[in-house]
Amino acid sequence: MKERIEKLLADVEAFKAEKIEEVEQLRIKILGKKGELNELFASFKEVANDQKKEVGQLLNQLKVKTQERIVELSSSLAQKEEKGDNFLDLSLPISDDNLGSRHPLSIVKNEIIDIFSRIGYSISEGPEIEDDWHNFSALNFPKEHPARDMQDTFFIDKEHALRTHTSSVQVRVMENSTPPIRTISPGRVFRNEAISARAHCIFHQVEGLYIDKNVSFADLKQTLLYFAKEMFGEKTEIRLRPSYFPFTEPSAEVDVSCNICSGKGCNVCKHTGFLEILGCGMVDPNVLENCGIDSKVYTGFAFGMGVERIAMLKYQINDLRMFFENDIRFLNQFKSTI
Ligand code: PHE
Repeated sequence: MKERIEKLLADVEAFKAEKIEEVEQLRIKILGKKGELNELFASFKEVANDQKKEVGQLLNQLKVKTQERIVELSSSLAQKEEKGDNFLDLSLPISDDNLGSRHPLSIVKNEIIDIFSRIGYSISEGPEIEDDWHNFSALNFPKEHPARDMQDTFFIDKEHALRTHTSSVQVRVMENSTPPIRTISPGRVFRNEAISARAHCIFHQVEGLYIDKNVSFADLKQTLLYFAKEMFGEKTEIRLRPSYFPFTEPSAEVDVSCNICSGKGCNVCKHTGFLEILGCGMVDPNVLENCGIDSKVYTGFAFGMGVERIAMLKYQINDLRMFFENDIRFLNQFKSTI
């Protein structure tokens, strides 16, 4: 028995472990319920009386030594692990692997807002369900204007519809404040259109309005040039084409030089070198009067753009439906701080 204990003591002393499981195996082997130590204690009564003291001491030694060895091995393994890959440094910044990303439309909308806030525009919002006055009548839409047609507008009842543009918000701002007014209205708009790669029945706009004394078309052009350069790069040029909107006179459509081919002509700009980005014009005096603003004292300009369109051009996305499908593989590609 003495030899057996001495052999075990030597084994414990020499025991080495690579993994914490191996230490646990040692514990079970020696200190476990059916382990060596219990077995030896069970046969202790058979030891001759004159040897009991010595064997007893050896048994205790085996118990203490094993416990010490287990503590020693476990802590050195834990230290090794800390220095290796699994080292847990609580002062490190968190990994951004599992962080969500902002939706590309939010990124672009925030960017547009940011560009205009830098030149003093405030943000105004309004209801998505609008009455005929704010969405159409105040904006100089004649009663029989095709834009009021069932094909373009989601009507709720005779008097209410889902807003077809955020110009309705600008009417509310004009009615409730006195110039100077400098505001942009971002928001969701609705049109009864078939969904395709280029159109959707729900989309997003940012419209702008500036009203003061002596606001001219030159101010409008300069503001839009500033916006285009901030959005698409310093080298961007703009081009204005005459157009028509009931609420502006004169009206124009604005193109920016194609940021893909730098104006040389490519598939995206259909070899014209330019891409259409927004509509604009000088606010029609009728609209000012409808909203209680003296058109003999004040003039103003307005513009409106689709956020989807800007995002498609900026990120070269060729199907508008991607914005609404919430495919994680698409959304994951957009990371932004704004
Ligand atoms: N409201 C127009 C639209 O939705 C855009 C626009 C706004 C045009 C302001 C001119 C001036 O298409």
